Amino acid sequence: MPAVLFRSLNDSPEAWKAALSKRIPDLDFRVWPDVGDPADIQYVLVWDLLPDMLDGMVNLRCVCSLGQGVDHLFRGIPVPDGVDIMRIVDPWMAQAMSEWVLLNVLRFHRQVPEYEAQQSKREWRSLPPPQTAERRVGILGLGALGKDAAVKISALGFDVAGWSRTEKQIDGLQCFHGAEGFKPFLNRTDILCCLLPLTTDTTDIINRDSLAALPDGAFVLNSGRGGHLVEADLIAALDAGHIAGAALDVFKTEPLPAEDPLWVHPKVSVWPHASAQTNAESGGNQIAEAIQRVFAGQKPNNLVDRDRQY
Ligand code: OXD
Repeated sequence: MPAVLFRSLNDSPEAWKAALSKRIPDLDFRVWPDVGDPADIQYVLVWDLLPDMLDGMVNLRCVCSLGQGVDHLFRGIPVPDGVDIMRIVDPWMAQAMSEWVLLNVLRFHRQVPEYEAQQSKREWRSLPPPQTAERRVGILGLGALGKDAAVKISALGFDVAGWSRTEKQIDGLQCFHGAEGFKPFLNRTDILCCLLPLTTDTTDIINRDSLAALPDGAFVLNSGRGGHLVEADLIAALDAGHIAGAALDVFKTEPLPAEDPLWVHPKVSVWPHASAQTNAESGGNQIAEAIQRVFAGQKPNNLVDRDRQY
């Protein structure tokens, strides 16, 4: 039977081996760097390829990202032509991501930073109550994650819109798309949340110009990728008072370096890329199915389009 090779610094090989072996009992599951004969490997499950890692894998058929994002497979080490690229699309992760987005939308909407600042001064003062139906939330990216978050926030009564590269229709949501829809989307957004895939087109999409197009006092949430945000532009907009606060789960450099000003910025909450972590138990079924398909000479599920990069 052909073999699977696993490599990740963040995910447990034991957990993945257990989850997959439960579904494919005789699975030959190898963990980098113990590759054995590279010609045995047909399926690679990976977060971050290493140079030369695929060398000698003459029978390699599929590389699977250990996560929903695949941008790490399009920078640096190329996946050879003819080898399929796939990713995890996991409702458990979508739920976790929506919880993070909801938490931070509600945190800003319900003035938590202001109340915490008041508490630190033992100040008893209620602030003007926010109006949910008037708070305009904007989700950048309407894929599996963005759509789930948008629908859940909308169910709480917020005025929710989304923006995507191509046209989408989602019941109850105002959907903007393409370059011409971008500015109008930003102009109506009080709380912006980025859940886009990182591609050549979306790199640095939250920058000085897009931040300036948000209304005064807007908030920014980023749990897409650090590459979406020009961090210096966000800090400038926060310091100028145009942006009122930010919650960031992803950064240009991860882990965020100790000396980075974002760590101590009073209007920023920093999260260690923890909004929706890959889960072997919930992702196990679909990866097991993909491995079985690949070993049987079929195409796996959740294939990535190399041209679109997601
Ligand atoms: C992912 C991630 O892409 O964890 O799934 O960032």
